[in-house]
Amino acid sequence: MDPYKFRPSSAFNSPFWTTNSGAPVWNNNNSLTVGERGPILLEDYHLIEKIAQFDRERIPERVVHARGASAKGFFEVTHDITHLTCADFLRGPGVQTPVIVRFSTVIHERGSPETLRDPGNFDLVGNNFPVFFIRDGMKFPDMVHALKPNPVSHIQENWRILDFFSHHPESLHMFTFLFDDIGIPADYRHMDGSGVNTYTLVNKAGKTHYVKFHWKPTCGVKSLLEDEAVVVGGTNHSHATKDLYDSIAAGNYPEWKLYIQTIDPDHEDRFDFDPLDVTKTWPKTSCPSSRWPSGLEQEHRQFFAENEQLAFCPAIIVPGIYYSDDKLLQTRIFSYADTQRHRLGPNYLLLPPNAPKSAHHNNHHEGFMNFMHRDEEVNYFPSRYDPVRHAEQYPIPSRVLTGRREKTVIKKENNFKQPGERYRSWAPDRQERFIRRWIEALSDQRVTHEIRSIWISYWSQCDKSLGQKLATRLNVKPSM
Ligand code: HEM
Repeated sequence: MDPYKFRPSSAFNSPFWTTNSGAPVWNNNNSLTVGERGPILLEDYHLIEKIAQFDRERIPERVVHARGASAKGFFEVTHDITHLTCADFLRGPGVQTPVIVRFSTVIHERGSPETLRDPGNFDLVGNNFPVFFIRDGMKFPDMVHALKPNPVSHIQENWRILDFFSHHPESLHMFTFLFDDIGIPADYRHMDGSGVNTYTLVNKAGKTHYVKFHWKPTCGVKSLLEDEAVVVGGTNHSHATKDLYDSIAAGNYPEWKLYIQTIDPDHEDRFDFDPLDVTKTWPKTSCPSSRWPSGLEQEHRQFFAENEQLAFCPAIIVPGIYYSDDKLLQTRIFSYADTQRHRLGPNYLLLPPNAPKSAHHNNHHEGFMNFMHRDEEVNYFPSRYDPVRHAEQYPIPSRVLTGRREKTVIKKENNFKQPGERYRSWAPDRQERFIRRWIEALSDQRVTHEIRSIWISYWSQCDKSLGQKLATRLNVKPSM
């Protein structure tokens, strides 16, 4: 008998109704009762199993990025970058790799509107903005608590957000994206994507380059202004998921082109910022930018299996791509798999949407919900009975690491220059909308005079005229 034939791959591989163990169910409408009117007998195993399974249908939602939708497609290499990396899936133009992508908002819960202004959205575990609020993972849980609803009222409140970030001026650059016109994407198809963190490309000879990944949608970027968001969100609070589903169903497949920016680590001191600081963008002119793989045809699948059970992780890399010392990335390397062991169980990588598509072997087995078939007697390493060897070594960054143990901020914080430059690059009407959003946020009754003046000082340090306008309109003097 083929042991795989009856694997639980589909609920519909039996022509008749059964229990989970395969016993025939002859009545799926009526409980087993004493007489016609009851009571119900506890021995109605099918009823108990059905209700118990129902009771457990919800798995914990993601602590962040709970609201989202996913789609499948492929990734095709268009440019030869083998001088930069020995990654097999980038071995040459034309090579295709199947991918699954999830798009999400960041802060609000699974059923929340998709029109909320929110820092997030593009997944391959990146964002729709190229920078982030904080550069040290130590601050992440507090940041999320401040952005999430107030634990008492369960309402997201500006005073808590502005209070928290008033201690962290490295967030200013991110706020020039969040409070800009692009703060509410029109839908998931019309969004840029950015890996944000710095990774390292390693070629066959071991030469490294820092790299940032950027996705550009071929259908362009579209956003909603506040009035439009109210209408769209008021009409359908799942508008972005619907748009993705409908366009794929109509054969109008979304497509992104992936670009890279690289910096030779030998040149990392040439900048007035730290290239591993996620609150900074790398200037286009000083970094060779290569147009790179394109492609993505998409197709929709069952929501629970291929959205809720998906587990993305910035730590999952392949030979030819390595991490960098970017402090935020270093924390993310631990956090994702850790939360997924809790959210989906320790064997979450055996779930079909997450399982490796290549052959894999190790002795990390057993634990809750292990459904891998194994019949080896040797589950330890090394063994003279088991021929499995170490994989071939591949190059990783070889730089010598030195330094004292310390808990400190990086040297080149430079928190004000890039946000100021970004603000000055906008047309006056776009600057005006940015100012209006800040006035509204800072006018929250619970924002204290101290917090208000700190923010005005911060924006003054980015751009004098911006700070001046905020101070005049809010009738506040900068305090720092
Ligand atoms: C130290 C900083 C960070 C920590 C500790 C962190 C932690 C987490 C956690 C625990 C999840 C839930 C994962 C799951 O349940 O499967 C998550 C999801 C996510 N994070 Fe982060 N995060 C950090 C920074 C970032 C940054 C900088 C970005 C963007 C560049 C980002 C993008 C995402 C995305 C897109 C998801 C959703 C993944 C999905 O669709 O399953 N995060 N993050």
